[in-house]
Amino acid sequence: MAVAKQFKHVSYLWDENTAAAFKGDEVGLLIYRSNLLGADLRLTNYGGGNTSCKVQMPDPLTGTKTEVMYVKGSGGDLGTLKKSGLAALYMDRLLALKKIYRGIEHEDEMVALFNHCIYDLQSKAPSIDTALHAFLPFKHIDHLHPDAAIAIAAARDGEKITQELFNGSIGWVEWQRPGFDLGLKLKACLDENPKIRGIMLGSHGLFTWGDTAYESYINTLEVIEQCATYLENNFGKTRPVFGGRKINSLSPEERKEKAAVLMPMLRGYVSEHNRMIGHFSDSDAVLEFINSRDLEKLAPMGTSCPDHFLRTKISPLVLPLAAADDLNLIDSLRDKLKPAFEGYRKMYSAYYEQCKHADSPAMRDPNPVILLFPGVGMFSFAKDKATARIAAEFYTNAIQVMKGAEAISAYTSLPRQEAFNIEYWLLEEAKLQRMPKPKPLTGRIVLVTGSAGGIGKAIAKKMAQEGAVVFINDNDEGRLASATQEFRQQFGKDAFESGILDVTSNATIHHAFQKTVVAFGGVDIVVNCAGISISKPLEEHTEADWDKLYDILVKGQFLITQKGAEIMRKQNLGGDVLNIVSKNALVSGPNNAAYGSAKAAQLHLSRLNAAELGKDHIRVNVVNPDAVISDSKIWAGEWAAGRAKAYGITVEELPAYYAKRTLLNEVILPEDVANACFAFVGGLLNKSTGNVLNVDGGVAAAFVR
Ligand SMILES: NC(=O)c1ccc[n+]([C@@H]2O[C@H](COP(=O)([O-])OP(=O)(O)OC[C@H]3O[C@@H](n4cnc5c(N)ncnc54)[C@H](O)[C@@H]3O)[C@@H](O)[C@H]2O)c1
Ligand SMILES: [Zn+2]
Repeated sequence: MAVAKQFKHVSYLWDENTAAAFKGDEVGLLIYRSNLLGADLRLTNYGGGNTSCKVQMPDPLTGTKTEVMYVKGSGGDLGTLKKSGLAALYMDRLLALKKIYRGIEHEDEMVALFNHCIYDLQSKAPSIDTALHAFLPFKHIDHLHPDAAIAIAAARDGEKITQELFNGSIGWVEWQRPGFDLGLKLKACLDENPKIRGIMLGSHGLFTWGDTAYESYINTLEVIEQCATYLENNFGKTRPVFGGRKINSLSPEERKEKAAVLMPMLRGYVSEHNRMIGHFSDSDAVLEFINSRDLEKLAPMGTSCPDHFLRTKISPLVLPLAAADDLNLIDSLRDKLKPAFEGYRKMYSAYYEQCKHADSPAMRDPNPVILLFPGVGMFSFAKDKATARIAAEFYTNAIQVMKGAEAISAYTSLPRQEAFNIEYWLLEEAKLQRMPKPKPLTGRIVLVTGSAGGIGKAIAKKMAQEGAVVFINDNDEGRLASATQEFRQQFGKDAFESGILDVTSNATIHHAFQKTVVAFGGVDIVVNCAGISISKPLEEHTEADWDKLYDILVKGQFLITQKGAEIMRKQNLGGDVLNIVSKNALVSGPNNAAYGSAKAAQLHLSRLNAAELGKDHIRVNVVNPDAVISDSKIWAGEWAAGRAKAYGITVEELPAYYAKRTLLNEVILPEDVANACFAFVGGLLNKSTGNVLNVDGGVAAAFVR
């Protein structure tokens, strides 16, 4: 086995001991190698590339040994590849397909025929790249999309540079859409150059191989390292990177502040057809590009590798804004942005009209995915957070490719027709059609105050389960930390963001909404749920008790609604405010002067807000819970003792007491309140505002009159 080499631009992760555990198991080694390759984004982009190995396996019908190829199936990422992500196919059958191949205009029909070559019936669907691996006779093959190699592959003199850099040991195949025919081209390239160790695919990526998993791994790393070193030696050599800096970046804090002010409006424009979730990035790589002299020249050219533009659309929208602009002047901002978005949509429909074929799928959403704001950063918008984040990653890959290509020659993008043929490829469309239907709240951004608490957390979870992204927050740090932990485990990092929010403090409200907007692009549903309770007879109630309750319950709801509505108006997409009030807003009981009247104020404030915000299509509705004892901090404290005293029973007797008091004899759980919230925003009640929904098991005294 070769000795581990020193690498600077790629990570060498091979561990002898781990690999030894797979001795004799070529498929295990393939998966191990794939995971190592996928762990380094410099080697391949998320979901990009595929790997394979060819092994002798017993034919289940005859028992005789036959050659089988294991190759990454359609979809999935190398970094997390498992056996279930592989397709295993009979090599003799795959090679036999060459005989019935009818030529490039019929190559798409070969994809269905791969299914007839399947060896392992548990295989993942064979991908379009299957032929690329099958026709090369090597035991282990890596096909990756490394920025450093694509930079050479997308350079005007890419072929010549590849030839010189590798002394002819890396072959070259011109850009062609992946498919059966490209597989034949790779084989032809090898036949003409039998000594090569890999092949560069114009505008696309790299093929490298070896006799063993390890040899393939090392060969791949060495080739990419050599490409990256070559680029590094050329940065700034003949001219400054991207022609040099044209403008300076704002400070990190100022960039975030600008992003928070701007994103809701951007989100409104890109959500013309579908509600989008946003992502903001201002990494050094992004800033170097968007602040450069060459931005104007390079951005409209669009990206090169098909993976890149499938995720980012053919080109980004450079926003017609200067970092110094006052983004709080809403009308003047709209005057600048509206024509920019209209222009982009026009450009996109012209591209569609020019390039479409008779059988092309209908035009997709013509809004931009990547938006660049010189001096500030990059915004990406997509159907969910992960897709938006990954789009940003891909555009960052594209930036590296442009940087490299421009340093050694001149960057070239794919011709528009080629880009279109990939974007609107019928096989790609079929993949989109197979995607699961979005959940009811997909694309929605929710902020629930007091969401580390019993009811608030249940609401936030329900919203997340139904597809929304949520900002969980509380003024109780300890409770918030454990809620954050729970959300991470249950929903994963893309589904939520969290932070401190005290509903009585405008400064924390500002920060929390800023964090929400920078994380997701805006807000659609605000739930006022934070609360405390104090139960005392009139003579014992202090002024401080009164102020505290009114500050949290009434002023808190007012401030949060005000801030939420400000963002919703900027988005121009309507919105929802849900207020968790209480039966006590309607029913008078003893020892409850401040809490009960504050709840009544919350209820009437909700109606006032509904009346005022209807014109912006912001709906305001109320959920009135009663006696939700499980998981409630309110019930853990003096309140329970106070209520028990008021009713002349013990604290332990309270749940049964409350259940019996209801018409349905039901115990009310936090989940019941969460379901009521979902009912208001899930789609069936879109024409209701100013309503009250009781979730109390039926308390006649609390019927709304
Ligand atoms: N539990 C019930 O029986 C019941 C009945 C009717 C209404 N409600 C209302 O439901 C809401 C939630 O109650 P719960 O039972 O889940 O209680 P809870 O105490 O478990 O949750 C309330 C959360 O709000 C947080 N909070 C308190 N002050 C805050 C502030 N200033 N800023 C931000 N967060 C703050 C608390 O830390 C807590 O995590 C409250 O408004 C309450 O009045 C509860
Ligand atoms: Zn590829």
